[in-house]
Amino acid sequence: MADRWPARPLIERDRVFEFLIEKPTREELVDTARGQILYLEDLTVSFDGFRALNELTLYIETGELRCIIGPNGAGKTTMMDVITGKTRPDSGTAFYGQRLDLLRLTEPQIAALGIGRKFQKPTVFEAHTVFENLELAMDGDRRVWRSLFKRLTGAERDRIEEVIGLVGLKEHVRDPAGTLSHGEKQWLEIGMLLMQNPLVLLVDEPVAGMTRQESEMTAELLLRLAGEHSVVVVEHDMEFIRSIARRVTVLHEGRVLAEGPFDAIQNDSRVREVYLGA
Ligand SMILES: Nc1ncnc2c1ncn2[C@@H]1O[C@H](COP(=O)(O)OP(=O)(O)O)[C@@H](O)[C@H]1O
Ligand SMILES: [Mg+2]
Repeated sequence: MADRWPARPLIERDRVFEFLIEKPTREELVDTARGQILYLEDLTVSFDGFRALNELTLYIETGELRCIIGPNGAGKTTMMDVITGKTRPDSGTAFYGQRLDLLRLTEPQIAALGIGRKFQKPTVFEAHTVFENLELAMDGDRRVWRSLFKRLTGAERDRIEEVIGLVGLKEHVRDPAGTLSHGEKQWLEIGMLLMQNPLVLLVDEPVAGMTRQESEMTAELLLRLAGEHSVVVVEHDMEFIRSIARRVTVLHEGRVLAEGPFDAIQNDSRVREVYLGA
């Protein structure tokens, strides 16, 4: 038995350790004390020698609504791929808050830490109602819990109702998602992302295929979400960008060409040359 002695104190110390140290909250992990939530520096991504990102440096402030524009092939989607862990850069750094190195985290870890991404094509469950879609989008632990007990807690129900109000689908709570318009499906999918309480929302071309009225409502929705969340929107529709009228970043050939308020960007001669075709 003597040979077990050295191991015991270690095991016990570990137990005490685990018991005393509380798991840090996500907000503590994502340290935004300096006011920025995303730090991308000198990011380069090459595809067969072609640089989709070319030493891209870009910062996103906590709670801001940032619009990213730029011609096709500018690297907008590649940038989102790097942030979400889908693509690894050849060089450069990407931090989420001051401490979390995105390049060392996997795609599911990044999502779980609160970076949510909305792709262009809506992926709602058509046969399920709006309410059920939001219920299904709640995070994994609760999903297992619910499949065992088939009951939502009051807080979960409240959160679903809150999100339904936010995305403007109150009148469609009990409607199957398949009966929604294209725009309404997009809002539902934003709602599904919100069920995971993301700190950052990345939205790629949200108003493509929307009517003018739907696109105005989408602008209002994204403006409502900013503050509570940091929102990064990639969009081609200049009317839409104008209606949001926040800080705009223009990407061109994998790097930032210009950044500033909409009016300044619109009047920037370099931007007009490469993007607005003027
Ligand atoms: N997986 C890939 N393989 C090869 N080339 C790619 C790949 N993904 C993107 N590219 C190229 O990188 C460039 C930037 O693409 P992308 O980030 O999709 O631009 P954007 O979203 O601004 O239109 C484009 O020229 C594109 O063809
Ligand atoms: Mg793209």
